[in-house]
Amino acid sequence: MTPCLATSRSHLFGSLIALLFTTIFFPLAGIFAQKATPPTNAPYRNPKLSAEKRATDLLRRMTLEEKAIMLSGSGWMESAPIPRLGIPAINMTDGPMGVRSWLGSSAITSAANAVVKIEASSFPSGIAMAATWDTDLVQREGQAIAQEVKALGRDMILGPTVNINRQPLWGRNFEGYGEDPFLSGRLAVAYIHGVQGEGVIPSVKHFAANNEEYERHRIDAIIDERTLHEIYLPAFKAAVQEGGAWNVMSAYNKVNGVHCGESRPLLHDILQNEFGFKGFVVSDWGSTYSTAPTANAGMDLEMPGGEAMQKWLTLPLTQQSGNGAGWLTADKVLAAVKAGQITEATLDDNVSRILRVIFLSGIFDRPHTGGSEVDTPAQQTVARQGATEGIVLLKNDGGLLPLDTSKIHSIAVIGPNAAVARTGGGGSSLVSPKYSIAPLDGIRERAGSSVQVNYAAGVEMEGENPAGDIADSRAKLLKEATDAATKADVAVIVVGRYSGLEAEGFDVKTMDLPAGQDDLIEAVEKANPRAVVVLNTGNPVTMTRWIAQTPALLDMWYGGQETGHALASILFGDENPSGKLPASFPKRFEDSPAYGRYPGNDLKADYAEGIYVGYRYFDSKSVEPQFPFGFGLSYTTFAYSGLKVTPSKTSGDQLVEVSMIVRNTGSRSGAEVVELYVHDGHSKIDRPAHELKGFKRVDLKPGESQMVQFTLDRAAFSYWYPATHAWTADPGKFEIQIGASSRDIRLRAPLMLAR
Ligand code: BGC
Repeated sequence: MTPCLATSRSHLFGSLIALLFTTIFFPLAGIFAQKATPPTNAPYRNPKLSAEKRATDLLRRMTLEEKAIMLSGSGWMESAPIPRLGIPAINMTDGPMGVRSWLGSSAITSAANAVVKIEASSFPSGIAMAATWDTDLVQREGQAIAQEVKALGRDMILGPTVNINRQPLWGRNFEGYGEDPFLSGRLAVAYIHGVQGEGVIPSVKHFAANNEEYERHRIDAIIDERTLHEIYLPAFKAAVQEGGAWNVMSAYNKVNGVHCGESRPLLHDILQNEFGFKGFVVSDWGSTYSTAPTANAGMDLEMPGGEAMQKWLTLPLTQQSGNGAGWLTADKVLAAVKAGQITEATLDDNVSRILRVIFLSGIFDRPHTGGSEVDTPAQQTVARQGATEGIVLLKNDGGLLPLDTSKIHSIAVIGPNAAVARTGGGGSSLVSPKYSIAPLDGIRERAGSSVQVNYAAGVEMEGENPAGDIADSRAKLLKEATDAATKADVAVIVVGRYSGLEAEGFDVKTMDLPAGQDDLIEAVEKANPRAVVVLNTGNPVTMTRWIAQTPALLDMWYGGQETGHALASILFGDENPSGKLPASFPKRFEDSPAYGRYPGNDLKADYAEGIYVGYRYFDSKSVEPQFPFGFGLSYTTFAYSGLKVTPSKTSGDQLVEVSMIVRNTGSRSGAEVVELYVHDGHSKIDRPAHELKGFKRVDLKPGESQMVQFTLDRAAFSYWYPATHAWTADPGKFEIQIGASSRDIRLRAPLMLAR
């Protein structure tokens, strides 16, 4: 060994020690060694004080390092705990249709191959719950899910999804509440009340304008201010202002050139200042790209974090897809604070938002230790009621439905979605239930021994068995189906997609049904014209080839674990269909308003259709949809009468009371959803033909009538005026419309707005 080398070695050793000291020991000493545990009577430990006071007291006891630690997760689904102060980790789970396994990345582990399989109740998809138009039920669903969250020892459910259905190919339309901001807002508020009432934290996602999966980390949604405020933000606003939401999740995409996770206009200016949001913002998993701009914009918690995030970040797929993560780690935040890029006041704001929710939710005082039962009979009842009420009867020529078992002795149940329960779309929302009822199971169970039930798949589900899906076997499957249909009194054809074709992470390829399913419907209907087509998808599908000759059509969406029971109870008339479409069904994709602008060019999606989304487009531009927004039939009939608007002349903030009478004129009990639209024909800027501003679901026995009341405030008449950057209503004559769908307006009355 040469002295020179020895010297350089010892020098190297010395430098290493110095490096270790400055990079590891010094910060660790900073983090762990300065302050003792606060006394047990410290104000922040006192549950009787307000969350605000407790957060303020706790914040002043925290070191800078402890604050910085709180800005990123400690694991895949856990925020960072600070044991010295008793600050717990927030343990999260997806969401929104029940508790999904929280172990591992949604990108690399589907619910099916997660390390430990978590089984919980699978509730109907958001679109199915929206089709119920039943806010009480959605609240009970939120409550049931929250109870399961607690029973499994978690604190936060990553839902509801409130992104608007802008176009029929978004892979996640099934998660959201459809195309209308008012309906989405009402349901979001109901879900949040249910969840927060149990002391569980919801996450209202994805803020904002996450309306396609195509290049979801890079796509830039170009949206004007009015369209944002009237279409894409109201559900978030309602969630914050009326739901009092404790958490909002930012979206992956960019809006007007900036990633949502670092968009100060979205997070600080709109969410915090305009809406008055007091909770904390969590990033979508891997959606951060900077340190100071992100924290300064109003991002409070970056997820995921810790070792799980580090490992995931190195995966090629994570990089390729454009995920960003690891920007709000304590070292980076501290460096930005020390460099003056993040002020301590901003850091305090970020941290106190998280602390406040930890106190408000009660998880500081009463940690969710888990160990209780999930999927209880009560939770199953909610899942079943949701699945049933969400089913929409779209066609029923000649009264084929409900099936009359005194006349029908055999049923052929056909289709790739008949014998398997396709409970939900794919991705982070897909729950593994303890059991699930396929349509065939539900029909067999209900039919009993007096009705013979035969089954034929008819066609393979596209993509499920590519090797076996060859010409010969296709012909054989189709023949089995037509043979079964010929011999039966009625054929029930259950078609649709599944979690491999309709999912998070990619968009649906086409509005058409998967390969061979249109052929199947046509062939079966030829063999037996007494056919009921049942749709099992989250999105609308093209029906042009068979709709004219299909006598009965039901949409059961993805109905969760109870989907087969729900379908059978509707088919046999034990329950009367009451669902209505929360999204317009275009005849062809080419008819939908965003056609030609989706998925966008050069990673820019231009929302040039503006506010003309869904029925706002179809009804204003006279484009006939296959089925309109708000449409759904029943086995009974309802008559509308007696519309009263009081006062009929209003001004200022005076509330307007609207009432009408709905009567069940048929011979079965049933529920009707009465819809209220406002038409503004005089505003100084262009407005849609009408907009939904109220709805009520009413249960009525045969012959029974009920008065339905609505209260309208000034917001019901207002539009977002870009010139003043504010909501405004122009004095003049409005029309109050009451309808059974957006295209079935049955009552109208004028309303004068004086000023
Ligand atoms: C999804 C979120 C989900 C999160 C955690 C993301 O990929 O967009 O909706 O909550 O993963 O699984």
